Amino acid sequence: MSQDPMLGKVIENYRIERIVGRGGMGTVYEATDLNLNLKVALKIMNPSLAEQERFRLRFQQEAQAAARLDHPNIIRPMYFGIKDRNLFLVTELIQAGSLADYLKRLRRESKVIQLPEAMELTRQVADALHYAHQQRMVHRDVKPGNILLKPMTSSGRHTSFRAVLTDFGLAQMMESTSQSMRGQPAGTFALHESRAGAGRRWSRRPLGHLLAGHHALRTGDGTAAFR
Ligand SMILES: Nc1ncnc2c1ncn2[C@@H]1O[C@H](COP(=O)(O)OP(=O)(O)OP(=O)(O)O)[C@@H](O)[C@H]1O
Ligand SMILES: [Mg+2]
Repeated sequence: MSQDPMLGKVIENYRIERIVGRGGMGTVYEATDLNLNLKVALKIMNPSLAEQERFRLRFQQEAQAAARLDHPNIIRPMYFGIKDRNLFLVTELIQAGSLADYLKRLRRESKVIQLPEAMELTRQVADALHYAHQQRMVHRDVKPGNILLKPMTSSGRHTSFRAVLTDFGLAQMMESTSQSMRGQPAGTFALHESRAGAGRRWSRRPLGHLLAGHHALRTGDGTAAFR
């Protein structure tokens, strides 16, 4: 298997250590902040997106908007940069990974998530979305891969994790940069949920799916946690 050329590289003051995961828009790496001697998550956007000026601009706007959100269930950007054609965003590294990783781990052990835990994590995500909507920001891509699970130091109610939402607004950016923006307001500044029923495929879909249990948030007897 060919080695990722970014591994071992230093961008600004971040040394790229290993791949955490790949998505449709970029790759998430574990990196070391050499100034603070701290492990962080560094997401580098795919070059095909990074080379589009409009995408770069929107990415920065979304990062700025996300940086202003102050909620325990929303990840906060720590750094945004463009260096040697790399467009990247640095956030806290959540060692336990995402809800998708957790569900996969459970499946490997022939287990499923328990209803109280699924409900508590969903409540936290809904709380984060409610807060974000009050700040006139929409997420657009609520799914297990974008819900990170931070181990809690003291045991909480029904779960030992805190759900932390990441990738605010990115799906919306993909859509608007790939389709040309046609004068639409950015996801950050407009409540696109109000467009539900306007024929947009993504209207209300992500949270609806999460709450409906479409994302394998299933309970012990195999039924969806939410209907
Ligand atoms: N801050 C983070 N800390 C730890 N793991 C992370 C962090 N951010 C992302 N990840 C992991 O990296 C994986 C890839 O993330 P990425 O955002 O690139 O793709 P995705 O969310 O799975 O899908 P896509 O973004 O294409 O819709 C995630 O599934 C998650 O497991
Ligand atoms: Mg993601």
